[in-house]
Amino acid sequence: MDPRELEELDERWSMHNYRRFGVEFVEGSGTRLIDSEGREYLDFLTGIAVCSLGHCHPDVVAAIEDQAGRLMHTSNLFLSGPAVELARRLAESSLGGATFLCNSGAEANEAAIKIARKAAHTRGVSNPRIVVLEGGFHGRTMGAVSASPKMSQDPSFAPYLEGFDVVPRGDADSLDHAVGEQTAGILIEPVQGEGGIHPIADSVLSAARSAADRTGAALIFDEVQCGMGRTGSLWGYQPSGIEPDLLTTAKALGGGFPVGACIASRSWSSVFEPGDHGSTFAGGPMASRAALAALEATSDPGLMDSVSARGERLRAGLAGIPVFSEVRGRGLMVGADLASGGGAPDLVTDLLGKGLITNATGPATLRLLPPLIVTDQEVDRALELISDSVS
Ligand SMILES: Cc1ncc(COP(=O)(O)O)c(C=O)c1O
Repeated sequence: MDPRELEELDERWSMHNYRRFGVEFVEGSGTRLIDSEGREYLDFLTGIAVCSLGHCHPDVVAAIEDQAGRLMHTSNLFLSGPAVELARRLAESSLGGATFLCNSGAEANEAAIKIARKAAHTRGVSNPRIVVLEGGFHGRTMGAVSASPKMSQDPSFAPYLEGFDVVPRGDADSLDHAVGEQTAGILIEPVQGEGGIHPIADSVLSAARSAADRTGAALIFDEVQCGMGRTGSLWGYQPSGIEPDLLTTAKALGGGFPVGACIASRSWSSVFEPGDHGSTFAGGPMASRAALAALEATSDPGLMDSVSARGERLRAGLAGIPVFSEVRGRGLMVGADLASGGGAPDLVTDLLGKGLITNATGPATLRLLPPLIVTDQEVDRALELISDSVS
């Protein structure tokens, strides 16, 4: 269908909660997307860190095709082999305890918040609170929005959930002081995504770990965006050696298929009891098979080395383009601030016209989330297009 016609239909029939570009992608393979008019694009956004293995990874496609022909859904009233296998793989690759499967990042965080609050009540905390970092983003459900400092300032959706204390993202002392007897959890994205690609300093993560140990609060890392190999290790926290009690993941977990998870360490695995939490579609066989295939492909150590090397190349290239005042990130999660203090949305539109898909996380920040399989040549091509756009 003609994109103009589709835009009109979208305007008429879809709620207006998204600002969309007038482009429809109809096919994807690896690092490339094709639109409805046959134009090819280099994808440096991957559906916002979802198709990290590239579009239509053959192993993920095969798993979904196979499972779709066998069984799509039975509910959590019954056992499911793929779900148990996914729960095991997730726990074994990270915190070693147990896993709650769900369908999205917001849901994974809701589960983590509920676990932290329940554990706090169990140890006699009367008014459980969660410490969150300035610039953090944890999703769009009411609990997750309430935990996201910028989002919870929008009066349109008030009242928000009570009990979230915000501290600056780079200040270990403030975090330490904010954590007290009433603290149920400390919720941190090890690399903030929507807030503009800000890696959180190890000193802050370490202060959070000590404060959680001191008070009994749960240290929760939201790796919905920075996990699943995005930063050059399977889980973003791993190079720091600072382990959380709960880890949330989604986005790239299903290789393009919707699935999320909240993984717990052994000590935090038994907080939920039957009836405490659930979701109809959670841990369905299709999502679980897709995620098992994606995890297998992402766990390749060669791929992780390549993510680090390509990320460095991308950041070094951006730093060499004079319009950028700061380039941040880790692995292939990269943000670049325009020195002019604005213009990122226009740059994104211009790049789309040139066949490069990117995104802006704010008025002045260009965000790049290329597929983990991106090549040096594709990184160089993206840099060339960006350089061309800003000159
Ligand atoms: C760090 C982080 N947490 C949570 C979410 C919410 O995930 P979802 O949109 O799957 O609910 C996002 C989405 O951008 C995210 O970046």
